[in-house]
Amino acid sequence: MMRAVDVITKKRDGGELSQAEIEFFVRGLTSGEIPDYQIAAWAMAVFFQGMTDRETTDLTLAMARSGDVLDLSDTVAMAVDKHSTGGVGDKVTLVVEPLVAACGVPVGKMSGRGLSFSGGTIDKLESIPGFRTSLSTAEFKRQLREIGVVLTGQSANLAPADGKLYALRDVTGTVSSIPLIASSVMSKKIAGGAQAIVLDVKVGSGAFMPNLAEATRLARAMVAIARRAERRAVALISDMNQPLGHAVGNALEVREAIVALRGGGPDDLREHCLEVAAYLLLLARRARTVKAARVRVSAALDDGRAWEKFRQLVAAQGGEVRAIDEPDRLPTAHLIEEVAAPRGGYLAWVDAREIGMSAVDLGAGRAKKGDPIDHAVGLVIHHQVGDKVQRGQPLFTIHANDAGRLAAARERVLAAHQFSRERVKPLPLFYRVVRSHGK
Ligand code: URA
Repeated sequence: MMRAVDVITKKRDGGELSQAEIEFFVRGLTSGEIPDYQIAAWAMAVFFQGMTDRETTDLTLAMARSGDVLDLSDTVAMAVDKHSTGGVGDKVTLVVEPLVAACGVPVGKMSGRGLSFSGGTIDKLESIPGFRTSLSTAEFKRQLREIGVVLTGQSANLAPADGKLYALRDVTGTVSSIPLIASSVMSKKIAGGAQAIVLDVKVGSGAFMPNLAEATRLARAMVAIARRAERRAVALISDMNQPLGHAVGNALEVREAIVALRGGGPDDLREHCLEVAAYLLLLARRARTVKAARVRVSAALDDGRAWEKFRQLVAAQGGEVRAIDEPDRLPTAHLIEEVAAPRGGYLAWVDAREIGMSAVDLGAGRAKKGDPIDHAVGLVIHHQVGDKVQRGQPLFTIHANDAGRLAAARERVLAAHQFSRERVKPLPLFYRVVRSHGK
């Protein structure tokens, strides 16, 4: 008889787990027969010892098959999906999914909750009163067929093993492991039934991959899994040294996404969303070049179609449409403080990780599995690396519901900004594209 402790010990000592051992572990994890403490110990062993490509693929497929694996071929001709490896202020999904659906390409997505310093789309969506993030498989399919866009969490019996492991990793220091991230992301994508996937692999201080070499390894691992699972995939490696857009925190990010969906918002966010959406159209074979795809997605963002699709999405999932039409109705913090720049100069560094952690400390994320979060709190970071800032100009705004936490955020976020007397080059948005050489 196989025992969880033997699988843990084997991995701890650097052994390669067999497919049977991985399947045994994922089965026990899903059913609850293997308790959280053994899963956590195993995750830590994987964190330190890594996994071979074969083990990573086996883990991915076992997690994908831990629940339903959607076959969407009876629902839509082709479904696409995008997934980010996690960042700070990353509200791209909220904009891109309706945008691509508005261009006639169905997107059904299963998203996650916040993970460590990085936010999660499901937490963001739950700041919209009434929005349901746990759809059944039948609801998922029906909605995809009817409005061409679905954004759900993991409880729809899609990759439930990842749901459990993800929640444990968040609070056991086992997030930033290439095999664990690759299998987590790809198990959801495979179970969700998308035939083509754009992976947004973040790199930098506010990402789980600190440098380009590691991010490229993660991108290649995910693209390789997609190939084995006969899905088309492209990975865009993008910057996450500073927050994307200005807002960090759930309802604040929904507000910023709403502005972007109406054709406005920060330039970096808009540009990022257009690029990801263009690659989705390209993979879906709705455009021949990224440039041609960009023309189509820009039009859908500017003429109101993307916004209208988002409204349909919110209505279909039980959310209060009035709360997005009038975003003042979204959760709002009681204490709002604008903090001024203590000196002038060019911004040399706006540390995304510190800002993400500060938002978590304000209550936007979790310290323990299942902790409640405060959708209203967070930060608005007014400037980016390369900007010239005058002393006394607003640098960031804190949205808090507790004076002590507000004071802590003030210090921490101030320290996350570094100034230079010399001119500083802005950070790029994207670094590299990793393509699948498969079909
Ligand atoms: N996103 C996921 O879905 N899983 C991870 O492990 C990290 C980011």
